Amino acid sequence: MAEAQRIDGKAAAARIIETVKAGTKALTEKTGLVPGLAVVIVGEDPASQVYVGSKAKMASECGFKSIKHELPPETSEETLLKIVGDLNADPKVHGILVQLPLPKHIDETKVIQTIDPDKDVDGFHLINVGRLSTGDTAAAFVPCTPAGSMLLIREVLGDDLSGKTAVIVGRSNIVGKPMAQLLLAANATVTIAHSRTKDLPAVCRGADILVAAVGRPEMLTGDYVKDGAVVIDVGINRIEAPEKGLKEDGTPKTRLVGDVNYAEAATNAAAITPVPGGVGPMTIAMLMANTLRSACRAAG
Ligand code: GUN
Repeated sequence: MAEAQRIDGKAAAARIIETVKAGTKALTEKTGLVPGLAVVIVGEDPASQVYVGSKAKMASECGFKSIKHELPPETSEETLLKIVGDLNADPKVHGILVQLPLPKHIDETKVIQTIDPDKDVDGFHLINVGRLSTGDTAAAFVPCTPAGSMLLIREVLGDDLSGKTAVIVGRSNIVGKPMAQLLLAANATVTIAHSRTKDLPAVCRGADILVAAVGRPEMLTGDYVKDGAVVIDVGINRIEAPEKGLKEDGTPKTRLVGDVNYAEAATNAAAITPVPGGVGPMTIAMLMANTLRSACRAAG
């Protein structure tokens, strides 16, 4: 087969961001309301810090009020719940995002369920999970990574996925399960596979649409990909890249790879997202879109 189409998530995300900027300008001019996004991070995980920094920066670029709470790793659950409660009560805040994972001594579920569902721009609150799984996508905030992945799938295959088989590898609450709901809503026939699935490569080779969200660098080799499949790689893994030389501290430089071996998969697939530049930028763009949506609702 010819080399696969490279699905440009960076360009798609840039288009969404332009729409969000224009929508924000119009909302603020008409009503005086400025969308507000609060991001909260507990601890010093370097990857999480990078993600949260990018989210806060993009919020400012969109014309939002951007609030960042950076809390030390020993922050108590009580303190975090109080901060979330204050953000719930603040009329200038329309979106609240608590970066996951949280330190072990904090009950993640409790924190997420404390966020006002109408400010839950991550779409993790049970109310929003319920809305999505009952098909009420008009009311639900949809989690950003699956929402962004779905837009990329739509760019290639259109809105109606009737007759298509979709396999999602990974069953997380953040990606795998909501992704399944979105694909189902678009009429695809959906399988969620995971680490206990028997003969995973064979299951994946049955997929017209293959979504990889396992968090294992380049796990899905060419052997997992059917000819003509659309492959969405949600993974963002940092691996050592000795070929790039050494850092100042003498350790090897690193590079980002997905959960899919791009070079191998691209020889079979019809279309595939790269890492970086695929799903990653879409996640941030959808967060901005969700926040603007929340602010528009608040404006009435
Ligand atoms: N950790 C990894 N992905 C996400 C995300 O989309 N939202 C939050 N809050 N935490 C994450």
